[in-house]
Amino acid sequence: MILKTLENGVQTLRLNRPEKKNALTGQMYSDLAEALEQGNSDTNVRCHLICGQPEVFTAGNDIGDFLQYAGKVAISDTPVVRFLRALVRNQKPVVASVDGIAIGVGTTLLMHCDMVFASPRALIRSPFVDLGLVPEAGSSLLGPQLMGHARAFELLCLGNAFTAEKAVQIGLVNQIVEDDVDAVALACAKNIAAKPPEAMALSRKLLRGNVDELSERVEEEIQIFAARLTAPETIAAFQAFMMKKKA
Ligand code: COA
Repeated sequence: MILKTLENGVQTLRLNRPEKKNALTGQMYSDLAEALEQGNSDTNVRCHLICGQPEVFTAGNDIGDFLQYAGKVAISDTPVVRFLRALVRNQKPVVASVDGIAIGVGTTLLMHCDMVFASPRALIRSPFVDLGLVPEAGSSLLGPQLMGHARAFELLCLGNAFTAEKAVQIGLVNQIVEDDVDAVALACAKNIAAKPPEAMALSRKLLRGNVDELSERVEEEIQIFAARLTAPETIAAFQAFMMKKKA
């Protein structure tokens, strides 16, 4: 469900579960985490490209999985947590190509990317509060830093959908691509991969600054998020989604 290829120094990670709108399962998180972790020590990997399917980047975490995890497993043992930690500690540049809906972690992972390309039909949305949850993946820190408190509140607390155009305005997306966003994103990733790798790594590290604060925030969010998974308002929201699905 993650299609992985390596070409000209670019490791492409394509989310591939279109029948479920690319909702991320434990296996998909594990595959993504492993690819990022291995990339850190693999000199053949000079850049990652994360992309989805036409009309859908990802509908976020699989809601069925949320219901299964709730209160039953130690959250730090879950693949999603491994993925979030891998994202924070990832040392190689990441390019993303968003050609449709990017929900929940589909939004927040973009805040960890170095370059983001979107098609005009991209739609970015994080309904954490509506689901009884809180923002994750360090977005409670990165969001306000990137776009200011007011717009971060609108995106992460109100759950408003942001168009590609608005995502460019707030600095989450670099460029809107009318035709073949994946091809443009791949060309950018190849360009990154062709540059002197040591200078690229040092420069990226300087731009990101000290990631310890980010790491601490991710861990804090994980604890709150895990506790929220068993909150009555959260379970009610998940069940409403599952019921709608059945209906
Ligand atoms: N988890 C599990 N399954 C999901 C899913 C998710 N996050 N998002 C979509 N799916 C499934 C649907 O249940 C449906 O499955 P089915 O065909 O077996 O019934 C299938 O994907 C297609 O989704 P559907 O809702 O019919 O498509 P749509 O085009 O009408 O709507 C979305 C697409 C993404 C807007 C809608 O599915 C949605 O809101 N998903 C939930 C997003 C979410 O809240 N994610 C969690 C963020 S923390």
